[in-house]
Amino acid sequence: MWALKKGYYRTFQAVFNVGARCLPWRKAEVVDGAGSIAKIPELLNREGKKKPMVVTDPGLMACGVAPSILKVLEDAKVPYSLYDKVEPNPTVNTVNAIQAQYLKEGCDSFVAIGGGSSMDAAKGAAARVVKPRKGVNQLGGLLKVRRRIPTFIAVPTTAGTGSETTIAALITDQDTHHKYAIMDLMLIPRYAVLDAELTVGLPPHITAATGMDALTHAVEAYLCWTYNTKESIRFAEEASVLIFHNLEKAYQNGKDIAAREAMMVASFKAGFAFTRAGVGNVHAIAHTLGGLYNTAHGLANAVILPIVLEDYGSAVYPKLAHLAELTGVARAGSQEERAKAFIAEIRAMNRRMGIPEGFDFIKEEDIPRMIAWAGKEANPIYPVPVVYSPERYRAVIEKIRIPVGCKEEV
Ligand SMILES: NC(=O)c1ccc[n+]([C@@H]2O[C@H](COP(=O)([O-])OP(=O)(O)OC[C@H]3O[C@@H](n4cnc5c(N)ncnc54)[C@H](O)[C@@H]3O)[C@@H](O)[C@H]2O)c1
Ligand SMILES: [Fe+2]
Repeated sequence: MWALKKGYYRTFQAVFNVGARCLPWRKAEVVDGAGSIAKIPELLNREGKKKPMVVTDPGLMACGVAPSILKVLEDAKVPYSLYDKVEPNPTVNTVNAIQAQYLKEGCDSFVAIGGGSSMDAAKGAAARVVKPRKGVNQLGGLLKVRRRIPTFIAVPTTAGTGSETTIAALITDQDTHHKYAIMDLMLIPRYAVLDAELTVGLPPHITAATGMDALTHAVEAYLCWTYNTKESIRFAEEASVLIFHNLEKAYQNGKDIAAREAMMVASFKAGFAFTRAGVGNVHAIAHTLGGLYNTAHGLANAVILPIVLEDYGSAVYPKLAHLAELTGVARAGSQEERAKAFIAEIRAMNRRMGIPEGFDFIKEEDIPRMIAWAGKEANPIYPVPVVYSPERYRAVIEKIRIPVGCKEEV
């Protein structure tokens, strides 16, 4: 029975791969460099937009990052409507509140300022604006939007999710705690404003977690067995190298602008790679932790990544060995030795950045839901190197669980 299911998943992926190559893929137009937020009024003007809806979160308001962009709009006399209450792992209710405000205030575009949470909440609202009859839950899944969203300017403040160039928006149903993705080419933002100066005040533990999210995107996309293109492979490789060389520098010294810029580029490239080639079982499991326990997305990925890579075993040795060479982690030894060195280095990076080896809050009674949700997310769409059965999900989740009080969380 399981062999049949697995066969169906692989057939689905092979067929989808052919179809995906015919889709009109595009990248967000990049506006980059220090001070590039100053160009936002010009971008709005270029698109003929008069009143953007600005979406951000309370932390970014408090630390001055979002106000610095609001000032740019005010100085250029651009009227805007502000929604600044996005929470980490944004909910359906938040998406609906943003959509309602957008309509009530007569907005015509979006400026999303923040990490993945603000960008995704705004993307969800943009999808609802063009599909008002569909609830957020009905937009979950693949290619359910299919209508051009209003002009969308993404201003990432973490490096990060890559949401500024991806087809995805991750939303949590506050009633069921199910976190799921809306995935549609229409959700690729029109512009990505990559201004690394916005990230200099990002606290070290968020720098670490969000940077490991970007690494997870690059690695999971790279391990994809079928959807990759030459460009997505190149971007995944380049992002991995940039992250290995710059994440810890940015973690140690947030003001290292060269490292921050490199991480912004890495996040964008990793985002592009995975939006084309997919993520995998690491993300599928991480999303269940975000929905059930509000675990920060990057932190969940950072913990799960080495556990899943180890579990994949020889299926991923050739590609991980290659990444080990490119990143300079291991240039000698057998393929297996280099692959294992790569996984060991991810663990070492985690340790050096205060990321724990597991979580002590996963409840036994939640595991069946985690298995069901992760399986539903990954299969059949993610082109994972190893298809997980429910039993294998359980075994991996058991490795992520550690006894209460065993390790401090970042
Ligand atoms: N759409 C996609 O393609 C995609 C990809 C990966 C992850 N995600 C989703 O994105 C969300 C996570 O996003 P995130 O990891 O960027 O975190 P986040 O957006 O949840 O932000 C985390 C915290 O960092 C703070 N913060 C952000 N930027 C800051 C800055 N420059 N200075 C100071 N504080 C700052 C915020 O105020 C917030 O408290 C999750 O829901 C995840 O599932 C989406
Ligand atoms: Fe992610």
